[in-house]
Amino acid sequence: MPSEIRVRRIDPTDAATMLDMDQLVWSDPQQVPREEALRDVPTRAGFIAAIDGEDVGIAGSWDVEVSVPATGGGASLRPAEGLTWVGVHPDFRRRGVLTALMRHHLRWVREEQGRAISILKASEASIYGRFGYGAATHELMKTFPAGARFEAPAQVEELAAATSTRTSRCAPEQAERVLALARRCGGLAAGHVLRSAEDLARILRDVPQTRVGSEPAHLLWATRHGEDVGCAWFRRHPTWSRGAPDGRLDVSWVLDLDAGARLALGRRLTSFDLMSETVYWTATDDPLLLWQSTQRPHGSGICDDLWLRVTDLPRAVADRGHAADLDLNLRVSDEHLPENAGTWHWSATEGSGSLRPTEGPAELTLDIADLGALCLGDQSVGARVRAGHVLEHRPGAAAELDAALRTPTRPVASVDF
Ligand SMILES: CC(C)(COP(=O)(O)OP(=O)(O)OC[C@H]1O[C@@H](n2cnc3c(N)ncnc32)[C@H](O)[C@@H]1OP(=O)(O)O)[C@@H](O)C(=O)NCCC(=O)NCCS
Repeated sequence: MPSEIRVRRIDPTDAATMLDMDQLVWSDPQQVPREEALRDVPTRAGFIAAIDGEDVGIAGSWDVEVSVPATGGGASLRPAEGLTWVGVHPDFRRRGVLTALMRHHLRWVREEQGRAISILKASEASIYGRFGYGAATHELMKTFPAGARFEAPAQVEELAAATSTRTSRCAPEQAERVLALARRCGGLAAGHVLRSAEDLARILRDVPQTRVGSEPAHLLWATRHGEDVGCAWFRRHPTWSRGAPDGRLDVSWVLDLDAGARLALGRRLTSFDLMSETVYWTATDDPLLLWQSTQRPHGSGICDDLWLRVTDLPRAVADRGHAADLDLNLRVSDEHLPENAGTWHWSATEGSGSLRPTEGPAELTLDIADLGALCLGDQSVGARVRAGHVLEHRPGAAAELDAALRTPTRPVASVDF
């Protein structure tokens, strides 16, 4: 008989166990001092899986907010759990440890945290679909050459001209300022992930061992009339080639309140002395791309970004805005949280949506992972019908759901966590 896998929540003495397991699973080439590394353990919600009393797997969760589409084109921030620090001891792979941790996490999110959404960033794209996560956002790795030309319309240029930029070192003291801007951005577009003030302050500290050949991280602030309108987190990697400067500037995330701020930040980030290229992660419809005279790739690649798992379907529907009225039945499968499964009637009027169980015939059949993929407006129901993931039993049903879930833009590229 297979041994039982038990999952327990960590207490303060378990933080070291969690760190040791994490370093064994992920390897630790950076040699971050132990007291610094211990500060990064998700002690708020860390979980350890054990087989016969031996600790064999870990998972944690960050307190986050995610911006979801709102009625009228903006977005609203909703509380979520950010799954993190997932790892299984190398000698205990493929014995169901991850599965036990995931089942525990999903129940905990729904029942103990009362949250309708869990999100994560995946090390490998093949791991989380089986647990009901869908790839909710995608991002493009875009390399801009130094001095890249952004040709924006006059009204955007005007806003950019009124915007000034200023570089400063990342430091915990900047956390509240970043968070205040991020909160405003979270009302504009879906896909933003906000960390707690405490986590953000921790992330903004400089740990020299994590620099890996680059400088300490910096923030580039954009202000207009004395007010913050944008901010970017970046690092420069100074290298030389045949006696000439050939550095790379990496941009981890950018926040902006309008196109003028984005343009001002984009221009500044591609014009630092000694840097020959700037690497960004952007949404696939980012204005920076639309201001280029050619859409041809330049060192680019598309990658899954945020994975989203709906843990409480009726709440997730009620929490999200709708762009059109809706009146249809859909059958949902959910292997891990059967409360979400069954046939639901989805109605929406004047932007508000709701679900109630129905005995009526299903017009669409899909899995909870499809709803994760659709939630933030990155993918269309039509595309998932064409791929065979979603079944359409009444012609037109997919188009109706697409119209209700439509968003003006794709979700933004989100911060790492
Ligand atoms: C990914 C990882 C957590 C999986 O743990 P595990 O305990 O071996 O997973 P399970 O035994 O519960 O496997 C569950 C299922 O997922 C599959 N699976 C697990 N990891 C997979 C992977 N990397 N690629 C494809 N399938 C995978 C298993 O084959 C299994 O499927 P099955 O039930 O049809 O056989 C583990 O391999 C690990 O620690 N990897 C390194 C760290 C990492 O990538 N963590 C994820 C961070 S986002």
